[in-house]
Order: sequence, then C-alpha cells, then structure tokens
Amino acid sequence: MKPSRAMLVTLGASALVLAALPGAAPAAQPGPNGATIFARCAACHTATGRGVPGAYPPLGSDFRALAVKPDGRRYLVLAVTRGVSGPLVVEGKPFRNVMPAQSGLDDASVAAVLNHVGTVIAKSGPPFKAFTAKEVATARASGQAITAADVARLHATVGGG
Ligand code: HEC
Repeated sequence: MKPSRAMLVTLGASALVLAALPGAAPAAQPGPNGATIFARCAACHTATGRGVPGAYPPLGSDFRALAVKPDGRRYLVLAVTRGVSGPLVVEGKPFRNVMPAQSGLDDASVAAVLNHVGTVIAKSGPPFKAFTAKEVATARASGQAITAADVARLHATVGGG
C-alpha cells in the first residue's frame, strides 16, 4: 500500500516528538526532583496524597487553597521546614498528630517538593503558582523561632480548613 499524505505527516510528527525527548527531560526539570523527594512525604501522606483519616492529612484542596495566599505559602514552607503539631483541621477533618521537620532539604528541594504536590498530587482547588527557592529562603528565614505547634496555629489564622 502506498502511504497516504496523512500517514506521512503522522510519521513525521512522531519522529519529531521522539527526537525532542532526550533533550527535553533535563530542560524540563532543572535542579532537585520533586517527585523523588515526595517519596519521603508519601511514607505518611500516601503516594496519592490522600492521607490517612485521623492520622495524616490529605495534600489536596487545602494545600492549593493555602498556596494562593502569601501567608498560606509561608505556612506551607514552614510546615516542611519546622514541622506541624496539631490540633489541625484539614478539609473539615480533625488531626492531632505530629509531622517532624523535614531535615536535609535545601531551599530548591523544598520548592521542588511543594511544586510536585501543587501540580501532581493536589488535584483540586484554585490554580497553583510555583514556589521558587528564593521564596522558600525568605519564608524559612522568617520562621527560625517558630515551633511545630506555632505552625499548626498558623494554619487556623491563614484560613486553612
Ligand atoms: C512522619 C510522617 C510525615 C512525613 C514524612 C511528612 N508529613 Fe506532612 N504531615 C504529617 C502529619 C501527621 C501532619 C499533620 C500534623 C498534625 O496533626 O498537626 C502533616 C501536615 C502536613 C501539611 C499541612 C497540611 C495542611 O493542609 O495544612 C503539609 C503541607 C505537609 N504535611 C506536607 C508534607 C510534605 C511536603 C512532606 C515531605 C517533604 C511531608 N509532609 C512529610 C506527617 C508527615
């Protein structure tokens, strides 16, 4: 059978996509890999971010709602860098547990994992705007004296729910 024009166009497009792949991967993900870092969060929050009722809160609509407010974004950074010790209400459900501060994550790594949660894990809520390492550095520096219990209280004041 003689290949039609449409088939040739399709083949040509596929070849272009394949040719672009090897070069595209590093350009799309510079710096730390948020998906890789998320593996440590998944130990508690689960791989899909659904969490465990009464123990580990979901990383979903509350996360995305917080991420549209400056104070909420600061809270999300501090949750990772200082930890969270409730009581805490997330998506209407109570939690009274402890998240340890996540050590060994530099500013770019914190930004990468929050961006992975905001774009891949948390699927509902308002549009997500990415964190930069610079924003993480500023938020982290503002919370040097803050305890995990303070972080949980911050959640209520920034209007997380
Ligand atoms: C050892 C278990 C554990 C690990 C690991 C963990 N968390 Fe948590 N996380 C918790 C618990 C428990 C809470 C709620 C604490 C409470 O009940 O006060 C929480 C709360 C949070 C919150 C606040 C949610 C909200 O809507 O207010 C965020 C955000 C969060 N975690 C993100 C992360 C990220 C990102 C990581 C990985 C870098 C991570 N957590 C790793 C247990 C964990």
